[in-house]
Amino acid sequence: MVQQLQIKTTKLEAPESGDVFLYVGEGEGLGGYGEKIWQKTGMDWDVLTSAASFTGKKGQVLDVLAPKNIAAGRLVVLGLGNGKKPGDKRPASLADWANLGGDFYRRVEELKSANATIILDDELIGAAQTAEFAAGMRLRHYKFDKYKTSESENGSKDADKIVEITLAVTDKQAADAAIKERMARVEGTLLARDLVNEPANVLGPVEFAKIASSLSSLGLEVEILEPEDMEKLGMGSLLSVAQGSARPARLAIMVWNGGKKDEAPLAFVGKGVVFDSGGISIKPSASMQDMKGDMGGAAAVIGLMKTLALRKAPLNAVGAIGLVENMPSGKASRPGDIVAAMSGTTIEIINTDAEGRLVLADVLWYTQDRFKPRAMINLATLTGAVMVALGHENAGLFSNNDELADQLLAAGKISGETLWRLPLGEGYEKLIKSRFADIKNTGGRNAGSITAAQFLAHFVNDVPWAHLDIAGVGFGTPNSDISRSWALGFGVGVLDQLVKDNYES
Ligand code: BES
Ligand code: MN
Ligand code: ZN
Repeated sequence: MVQQLQIKTTKLEAPESGDVFLYVGEGEGLGGYGEKIWQKTGMDWDVLTSAASFTGKKGQVLDVLAPKNIAAGRLVVLGLGNGKKPGDKRPASLADWANLGGDFYRRVEELKSANATIILDDELIGAAQTAEFAAGMRLRHYKFDKYKTSESENGSKDADKIVEITLAVTDKQAADAAIKERMARVEGTLLARDLVNEPANVLGPVEFAKIASSLSSLGLEVEILEPEDMEKLGMGSLLSVAQGSARPARLAIMVWNGGKKDEAPLAFVGKGVVFDSGGISIKPSASMQDMKGDMGGAAAVIGLMKTLALRKAPLNAVGAIGLVENMPSGKASRPGDIVAAMSGTTIEIINTDAEGRLVLADVLWYTQDRFKPRAMINLATLTGAVMVALGHENAGLFSNNDELADQLLAAGKISGETLWRLPLGEGYEKLIKSRFADIKNTGGRNAGSITAAQFLAHFVNDVPWAHLDIAGVGFGTPNSDISRSWALGFGVGVLDQLVKDNYES
């Protein structure tokens, strides 16, 4: 199991023990508090750096063991780069600082340091950057290893170990406040990761709904609809997906009242297919195990609601997640079946593997009908086609509203969870016209992500709406500075940023 991480802050002071780390920009030399520490040791900076060929280039390390006159066991100088060469950027954006924090945690782990202090004084970094740095460490530290019964790779029982990392900062009070707020987002992201990583035998619709219910302890109002409730509401589309599974569907609604009483809420809707076998249109078995992650949209929504509650965000928000399992059986829906959604629209099911849109159709309609939101955003691991288009780098963004789309694009850049807008349009409509019903649930191979989004648009009225297709970013992403997890927890960051920058009173 992964070792425990404790992060704290202190005012700039020479630490009493452990390992001390400093950052130096390329060609910049020491400065600030780092220079003071260095001077105490009496070492010659020029001689040592030239002997070690240390120039401050990103990734370089100057590791001094047992430095004299200070209490530290080692003094480690890390290169920060200069921002002039591609890929060698001195951190500029907040996301860059999170990446740096993640990279820093990796180094601490590599050096097997149990007690590390990093000097982050004002010349280098303010409270917001410090908070990102701390968040990056936590995100990198995360590991989903609860099912590993044996000892870790290096043979030690890491779970019992504690690594304590101290951020030495100029303004401790400001840093602490910023870290506290930023950690609310980290908690949400890690909850989303846990849920996506969890196997489907453990996390079915009922179990998922229970986790939603447990968020009531944070001040969220949670309501769970069962199949009978959904039948009464006429949710024939969602229920058609669930009917092949032995495990019944759930719809979880989480309400956060942090704003004024009469203020319309912001709504978030998630696809929560706990496992997507494809149904009767069964998927090939290669990589089918990945389909335990087909609830990544729902995981992001629940993670976001947790974040908003933890940081007591001043707005009203609702999260609604449709929780089903898509399985083949004697009770499963078949290609050719026609179902009626809650909106009254009839749908011909061409392919039972295009199930996410069937789930979202009813949850979107229900959410806007009941809550009259000021804007509605859904997340879904909806199409393989979005991966073909955008790879693991960006989520697909579709919207009926340019202002909302721009807000989301901006929030993506700041949070590091980036989006790329793709079109909707009348022209795509003919691809999902059905011979027998109002619409059909697939539009052919071309523009597969767009026809899926166009399908969803049928269940959205005048409200500003955006759909994030996170199939390429929800899971299976390559390791990065801030993640070595299969599931990224994508969505919590960009949506929390969106809220923070545009929707708080
Ligand atoms: N959950 C899948 C999409 C998916 C694929 C997510 C790979 C993550 C990784 C979705 O339900 C699906 O099966 N979509 C089909 C739609 C097709 C049948 C129109 C697809 O993308 O192939
Ligand atoms: Mn599917
Ligand atoms: Zn699916």
